[in-house]
Amino acid sequence: MSDMVKKPITLDVNHMMADTLGFQYGIARSQVEEYAPFAAAANQAVQAGRGKNWLGWTELPYNQGEIVEKIEKTAQRVREQFDTFVVLGIGGSALGPIAVQQALNHLHYNELPAEKRGGPRLYVEDNIDPERMQALLDVIDVKTTCFNVITKSGATAETMSQYLTVSELLKKEVGDKWADHIIATTDTEKGNLIKLAKEHGFDLFYIPATVGGRFSELCPVGLLPAAVCGIDIRAMLEGAAAMDARCKSDNVWDNPALLEAVLQYICMEDMGINVQVTMPYADSLKYMADWFCQLWAESLGKNVTRKGMACNHGQTPVKSLGVTDQHSQLQLYTEGPYDKVITFLKVENFRAQSPIPHGCEEFPDVAFLGGKSLNQLIEAERQGTEYALYKKGRMSQTITLPEVNAHTLGQLIFFYEMTTAYAGELLDIDAFNQPGVEESKIASYAVLGNTSEKYQKKAAEMKNRPAEQDAYIL
Ligand code: PA5
Repeated sequence: MSDMVKKPITLDVNHMMADTLGFQYGIARSQVEEYAPFAAAANQAVQAGRGKNWLGWTELPYNQGEIVEKIEKTAQRVREQFDTFVVLGIGGSALGPIAVQQALNHLHYNELPAEKRGGPRLYVEDNIDPERMQALLDVIDVKTTCFNVITKSGATAETMSQYLTVSELLKKEVGDKWADHIIATTDTEKGNLIKLAKEHGFDLFYIPATVGGRFSELCPVGLLPAAVCGIDIRAMLEGAAAMDARCKSDNVWDNPALLEAVLQYICMEDMGINVQVTMPYADSLKYMADWFCQLWAESLGKNVTRKGMACNHGQTPVKSLGVTDQHSQLQLYTEGPYDKVITFLKVENFRAQSPIPHGCEEFPDVAFLGGKSLNQLIEAERQGTEYALYKKGRMSQTITLPEVNAHTLGQLIFFYEMTTAYAGELLDIDAFNQPGVEESKIASYAVLGNTSEKYQKKAAEMKNRPAEQDAYIL
């Protein structure tokens, strides 16, 4: 960790503000000041609740000394004994591991020869597409694979059905030793996975009761897969703590996550900016956008306030990759509805330099690229996009990582988590539940014919829908 750049990430909101965009499209500083008392109250609520209820994630940078040691030991064992590591999980039990692996390891990690990789191949299986399960089984050998079954509730159908598949296969292929191939990461008490883990003696890691799925990346959910793949998890936690230290103040101008929450609150509530596009200009960060999408969508999309008032809060998060999506989505962002804010993720120093050779002198528009680098080109294109948005009165903001490493990623994760908690306070909603997901879950069990009363009732209720008409099926 010693050579790692530990500079702070920055949040630049110039292109959100009326000073840059004008009063028609931008946010006036005075508007932000008007919300100062609410912002202060939001910070005080989050600080007062630290470590309690669903705010257990605030303490993860500080309270995992022994857990980190156990994770590192287990990771070492896995690296010695297995050539493949498969995470079985979904939502908050998968998006963090995917994002961190993409950000911090080689972009073609699995394809590297074993000696260059230095750890097992990693697959994170966050869907139940039957072709995908078959495809996984086609490329792994279960005899040399370790499966990390991750589920906070210990009951998620997608993950438990994957567990049933791999445990049966393991029993066939490795006999008595099958349980040595499974590591469970789950709640300390709730759910079925904890019971299975105890019954069969799986290696076991806990998700603290106060840490919800989408806030769990910095506990064993994310730390174990990262450590197995050689990522410096201590630096990630150190980065999170560094961001935490910057998020103490009640003053928005001294607390980046609080400023961000207030600006997005103004966007959502006062300006009808109901879409936030996260646009990393770096392939390494493209799945951070997915991770953020879940965090923001599931936390803020609510139809009732904490006082029980009806509402329809939330801001639709969209993932877009720079520069790739300049050639697919940018037209909409510059000229479509005024309902979007674009968040650029910028990398100051990439881990590779890619010079563009001279050539094609007969074509000046090609030749001028010679002698520059892809590093310069990607940043020039980000600035070009920022300008194009500005010219059309569209808001954007830029989060800059001095470089992508475990420390800066830890900062970014904690920044987004704090922003989400503050936004929940400002909107006065419960940012830590997800009741809207339940209906679909119960309905699917009913469709699948679960015979317990709850699902039978749902099956009957579903029959009351208006019958589908052939005329509408072409
Ligand atoms: O944020 C959440 O709580 C959810 O998105 C969960 O992460 C997701 O539903 C998976 O749940 P579990 O980890 O219980 O399997």
